[in-house]
Amino acid sequence: MSKPRRILVTSALPYANGPIHLGHLVETVQTDIWVRLQKMLGNECYYVCADDGHGTTTMLRAEKEGKTPEAVIDEMRPDHERDFADFAIGFDNYYTTHSPENRELSELIYGRLKDGGHIETGMVRQAFDPEREIFLPDRFVKGTCPSCGAPDQYGDSCDNCGATYTPADLIDPVSVISGATPIERESEHVFFKLSNFTDVLEEWVTPERLQSEVVNKLSEWFEEGLRDWDISREAPYFGFEIPGHPGKYFYVWFDAPIGYLASFKQLCEREGLDFEDFWAPDSEAEVYHFIGKDILYFHCLFWPAMLHGANFRLPTSVPAHGFLTVDGTKMSKSKGTFVRARTYLEHLPADALRYYYAAKLGPGLSDIDLNLEDFVNRVNSDLVGKVVNIASRCSGFLRKSFDNALADELDSPEIHDQLADARDEIAGLFERLEYNQAIRRIMALADLANQYIDERKPWVLAKNPETRDETQRVCTTGINLFRILAIYLKPVIPSLVEQAEQFMDCEPLQWSHAPTPLLGTSIRDYEPLLQRIDLTLAKAMIEASKDQSDEGQSEGAQDGADSESVEHAEAALELEPEITIDSFVQVDLRVARIVVAEPVEGADKLLRLELDLGGVTRQVFAGIKQAYDPGDLVGRLTVLVANLKPRKMRFGVSEGMVLAAGPGGEDIFLLSPDDGAVPGQRVK
Ligand code: 2FM
Ligand code: ZN
Repeated sequence: MSKPRRILVTSALPYANGPIHLGHLVETVQTDIWVRLQKMLGNECYYVCADDGHGTTTMLRAEKEGKTPEAVIDEMRPDHERDFADFAIGFDNYYTTHSPENRELSELIYGRLKDGGHIETGMVRQAFDPEREIFLPDRFVKGTCPSCGAPDQYGDSCDNCGATYTPADLIDPVSVISGATPIERESEHVFFKLSNFTDVLEEWVTPERLQSEVVNKLSEWFEEGLRDWDISREAPYFGFEIPGHPGKYFYVWFDAPIGYLASFKQLCEREGLDFEDFWAPDSEAEVYHFIGKDILYFHCLFWPAMLHGANFRLPTSVPAHGFLTVDGTKMSKSKGTFVRARTYLEHLPADALRYYYAAKLGPGLSDIDLNLEDFVNRVNSDLVGKVVNIASRCSGFLRKSFDNALADELDSPEIHDQLADARDEIAGLFERLEYNQAIRRIMALADLANQYIDERKPWVLAKNPETRDETQRVCTTGINLFRILAIYLKPVIPSLVEQAEQFMDCEPLQWSHAPTPLLGTSIRDYEPLLQRIDLTLAKAMIEASKDQSDEGQSEGAQDGADSESVEHAEAALELEPEITIDSFVQVDLRVARIVVAEPVEGADKLLRLELDLGGVTRQVFAGIKQAYDPGDLVGRLTVLVANLKPRKMRFGVSEGMVLAAGPGGEDIFLLSPDDGAVPGQRVK
C-alpha cells in the first residue's frame, strides 16, 4: 500500500454577517465530499474553515443594532456551525478570523513581508461619504466597471469581467450607505507589492496545478501586469490594527485567508499536530483551497504571494467551482430562490441536496443549476428507486425466513467483483472532482444490482422450500451489492450511509472494504432509509424563502417577544414539564387537507382520516368522532404531527396525529389553519 497522504483542505470562509445559503453549500458539499473520500481512502486529511468576521459590514451592522462587532459575529457563528453540521459538513475545525491566532499570524506575515521589502506606503485618494463621515470601503461604493463598462458593480471587483480595482476607478460612483455621491479624500495607505512576485506566481500557475479555465484567466491578469495591493483601511474599521500604523487596519481580505492558517493552528494545538509539517516551505503535505470562481484573484495571486513572501509553502491547488442558479436563474430574494440552509432543512433532507449537487458538479467552473423538479425526480429515482430499494427488496426475505442472517457464501461472486472492481475508477473520478461522472458510474452499478435481483427473483425462490438456501444466498448477494454502493456513496450521503451501516450491523465503511463481502453475520430489521421527496415540499421551501429579511438579528427580536408571552401563559396555566426548543423543533408539524373522513366500524370515538400533505397522503385515526360530523371535515385544513412513528391499531396503521384542543368528547376543536395555508407546509 502506498504511504498515506497528508492533506489540509479548506473552503472559503463565509462572511459572519449573513446566513448560510444554498450557494455556500455548493462549495462546502463539494469540499466535504472530497475530504470524506480522502479519509475513507485512509489518508490523513484535515478540513478547516472559519467565519470571516472583519470589515465594514460587520461594523455597520453592530452600530445599527447597538452591539459590539464581536457580539454580532459571536451570535452568528453557532448558527453557521449548526447549519453546516446539519448538512453533515465534517469540519475538523471551525473558527473565526477574529481570533488571537489570526491576529498573531497576520502580524507575523505582515512583519515578514515588510522585512522582505514587500510593503510600501503611499497616499490614496479614497471615496469618503460626506454624510456619514467615513471612508467608504470598496463594497460600499457602486458604479460602472472601468474595465468593461458593466453598470452597478461594487468598488473592488467586477462580477461581469472579474477585473479588480479601487472604488476611485468606478465610473459614476454612489455611496451604498447614504446614497450620497462620495467625495474623495486623501490618506496614507499601506501596500503589498504584488508585482515583486510575478515570477514566483507565473511559475506556480500551471495546468497540472490549476484548472485550465483558471490558468487562462490568470494569464490574462499576468499580461495586464500585477498591480500592488492596498491592504489597509482607515478607522473606524472592525479588524486588526496594523503594527506601526495607528488608526489603520488590515483590510478584511488580508487577514481572511490567513484565517485558514489560524483555524488550522487552533486544530494543531488541540490535536497535537505539527503546524510546520504542513506549512514550512519544504512541506511534503498537500494543501487545497476550495473556492468559488469569483475569488480567484485573491486566492491565486495575493494569497500565494503573501505565503511565499512570508516563508510559507504555496497551496498544492485551488479548486474553483461555478455559481449556483435555481431553476435556471440567479438566486433571488424576491423569487424565493435565495434559500437559506435552515429553510431548506425545514422542508427537505440534507442528503438529498448533497446527492443532487454531486450529480451536477463537474471539475470545471460552469455554474450548476438546482432545478427543483429535476432535483426531486433525481433523488427519488436514484437514491430511493435504485439504491435504497435494493436493501428493502432483499431484507424482507432474510428477516422472514432466516432471522436476518446472511449466508456464508454469495450466490454470485462475479457480480460482487464487478461492482467492487470499479472502486479505483470511482475514487479517481471523485479525486479529480468529476463527481457527476462518479455518480453516473455508481448509478450504472446500481442498475446492474437491480437487474441481478430481477433475474434471480428471490420472491419466487422464497416460495419453494427446495430453493431455501439459494434464496438466502441471493439476498445476501443483494445486501452486499447494496453495501458496495453504500461505500461509493458514503462521501456524498454520509448520514444515509451511517443508517445503512446500522442496518447491516457492520463497522464504518471504508473504501478498502469493497472487495470483501459481509458473510455469515446478521443484519438488523430494515427500516426505510430514505422516503421519497415531494415537489410540494420544494415549492413550500421557495414560498418560505420569499423576501426573508437578510438580517438574522431581526428574528432574534421576535424570539424575545415569544418568550415573553410564554412567561405570561405560565402564570395562569398548569403546564406539562418544560421542554427545550430543541425538543420542540423535532416535532414536524405540517399543514394537511382532510380529503377523506369516515367512521370506523367498531370504534365509537374514532374517525378514519386521509390527509393530503401536498401530493403525499397519510391515514390517521383520530378520536374526534363525537365532536365532528365526518362530512363537515372533508376539505378542511388541519395540522398534522407528520413525523410521529406510525402506530399499528386494530383498524389499520395510523401515520401521524392531527392536532386538536379541548377537554374531550364533544368539546374537541380541531386546529384548522386559515385557508391559504399550503398542504405540506411546515408549521412553526
Ligand atoms: O467571498 C467570501 O465570501 C469571503 N468571505 C471569502 C474569504 S475566503 C478566505 F480568503 F478567507
Ligand atoms: Zn467589468
